[in-house]
Amino acid sequence: MKLAVVGGGSTYTPELIDGFARLRESLPIEELVLVDPAADRLELVGGLARRIFAKQGHTGKVVTTSDLDAAVADADAVLLQLRVGGQAARNQDETWPLECGCVGQETTGAGGLAKALRTVPVVLDIAERIARGNPDAWIIDFTNPVGIVTRALLQAGHRAVGLCNVAIGFQRRFAALLGVTPDQVTLDHVGLNHLTWERAVRLNGEDVLPKLLVEHGDAVAEDLRMPRSLLDRLGVVPSYYLRYFYAHDEVVRELKVKPSRAAEVAAMERQLLDLYADPSLDEKPELLAQRGGAFYSEAAVALASSLLRDTGDVQVVNTLNNGTLPFLPDDAVIEVPATVDGSGTKPLPVAPLEPLYSGLIANVTAYEHLALEAALHGGRDRVFKALLAHPLIGQTEYADALTDRLIAHNREHLAWA
Ligand code: G6P
Ligand code: MN
Repeated sequence: MKLAVVGGGSTYTPELIDGFARLRESLPIEELVLVDPAADRLELVGGLARRIFAKQGHTGKVVTTSDLDAAVADADAVLLQLRVGGQAARNQDETWPLECGCVGQETTGAGGLAKALRTVPVVLDIAERIARGNPDAWIIDFTNPVGIVTRALLQAGHRAVGLCNVAIGFQRRFAALLGVTPDQVTLDHVGLNHLTWERAVRLNGEDVLPKLLVEHGDAVAEDLRMPRSLLDRLGVVPSYYLRYFYAHDEVVRELKVKPSRAAEVAAMERQLLDLYADPSLDEKPELLAQRGGAFYSEAAVALASSLLRDTGDVQVVNTLNNGTLPFLPDDAVIEVPATVDGSGTKPLPVAPLEPLYSGLIANVTAYEHLALEAALHGGRDRVFKALLAHPLIGQTEYADALTDRLIAHNREHLAWA
């Protein structure tokens, strides 16, 4: 089995490698290709990857290259985890929206649109090259904004599944709070990428969410930085990305007076690369736990394993709606539990959603549709319309001011600007 990781020079990669090494029984990789244009990073990360494999007795070969076409040729699956413009571009996404009183975040709101506009054309080009290298290869997309990028890939006819670690994070956290193993816990997880709610937490089939909230509501609320009373009133657990909606103005006030997440991550990355350069390091360092990617390796291994080994188990993925949420178009991409086998992903039926959730999902889906139009076809007017449609923006004055800033800060990445 050959796997390629595009963006393999990411400081996140050792997390993935650690998962590949530990879970090698379910994903027997013979060749792992890390591909990245940043040669110096790639060598450091690749070196550590080989040491982790060696230490854990993984016999797979780790190859590093900047040649994308060679990397993806004959790959069975390709993981996309790239970041166009790096942390510097992310820093912009997190900063200029604040000038207009709007949240500055890498996937939510105007910053997320900027990221989509930079990323979609690059990912579509890579996907075409993957398909040329092996038309049957599966594309596992971690590249944000996952909902829009996956929609772009599927609309272009690629064999793609979008993935995020929010659901697996909740599953692991709830299992720990309940004192059980993660495989005993399944979630009624519903929504769009970074816009989801847990409506039930099933322990061996029984919904224990009400009990979990009574016994551990404070801990869950603290994780999410949301009031406990909100969880009790809703009776569901929103993902922490919902804080950008439910406490938008409070978040804006916070973000205005602290360093951006991109700046924090850039500082961490410098430290991580220093650690990776140490030839005696042969495991993922503790510091990596301070990044947001916990359990993403487990999620990736599980998904690749099910797609390539035709297991037919259930995982939370980003996939085509196709009538699953009846109030959305079929071609919307939703994040729900789905059966995963060699033919792809098939969402499980979803119980009807309350208007409190379906309204916001429908609104953000409309935004994602317009965001993809803007990413594919460009133009100030399309950017403006996507921003106007976003529930956190919505006013022409803001949409105009944000459009100007988005274009000014991203000119070098936008072919049409
Ligand atoms: C979570 C999200 C990812 C996001 C990451 C950011 O894992 O699900 O989509 O990329 O957080 O983490 P960072 O450490 O880069 O802030
Ligand atoms: Mn995510």
